[in-house]
Amino acid sequence: MHISASLLAADYARLGEEMQRAERAGVDSFHFDMMDGHYVPNLALSPEHLKALRPYSKLPFHVHLELENPDYVLANFVLFRAGMMIVQWDTLANPTHTFGEIRAKNTKIGLGLNPDGALDKVSALFHDLDVLLLLGVYPGFGGQTIQPGMEERITEARHLADRHNPGLMIAVDGGVKPENAARLVRAGADMLIMGTALFQSSNMAGTVRSIRESLAGSPRR
Ligand code: DX5
Ligand code: ZN
Repeated sequence: MHISASLLAADYARLGEEMQRAERAGVDSFHFDMMDGHYVPNLALSPEHLKALRPYSKLPFHVHLELENPDYVLANFVLFRAGMMIVQWDTLANPTHTFGEIRAKNTKIGLGLNPDGALDKVSALFHDLDVLLLLGVYPGFGGQTIQPGMEERITEARHLADRHNPGLMIAVDGGVKPENAARLVRAGADMLIMGTALFQSSNMAGTVRSIRESLAGSPRR
């Protein structure tokens, strides 16, 4: 099971140390939300943060573009050795073109889908993807409660993926907590992206450990 730490919930005055704290706690990667105040009503991390934070950890950086024009960012910024770029489905004018730009950077491709995004509309794109990211909340802010029906949605995505691209990983982002992690994984999730549940926890290592323990025996752990 891949656990990715979303820096949106970290202490912005000490991001480098927060990353080291999360790495020591046993996370597998870092998740950077880039927001533009248009696609979502908030502003968040920028390419400059990737550059400044790259020396703090060797773990992969996953960049989640929650912004109106991902093609502009992909064409105009250096995305300092990001291991994966995640773009939001409803921001793509030409998905094949955008995926080509991401591949050209030798980077994995993730596609993000809002809670109301229809899975059958995106399944034709699955063969181009490494990760399908199902948002558990409407994007823009950390600390929200996961939307109802996520388990059914993950299971539906898993069935579609088994048909179109069996190697596709399913990630859940938003509202993931130790209390719902096992259910999400049992439904078919391969990657849990967590901000608040990790960075606001008084014992991050204990939280990561308890999540991994809760998955023992589950087929996709
Ligand atoms: C929401 C972001 C998430 C967010 C999750 O717009 O895409 O990555 O950080 O935060 P939590 O885990 O606090 O719901
Ligand atoms: Zn995100």
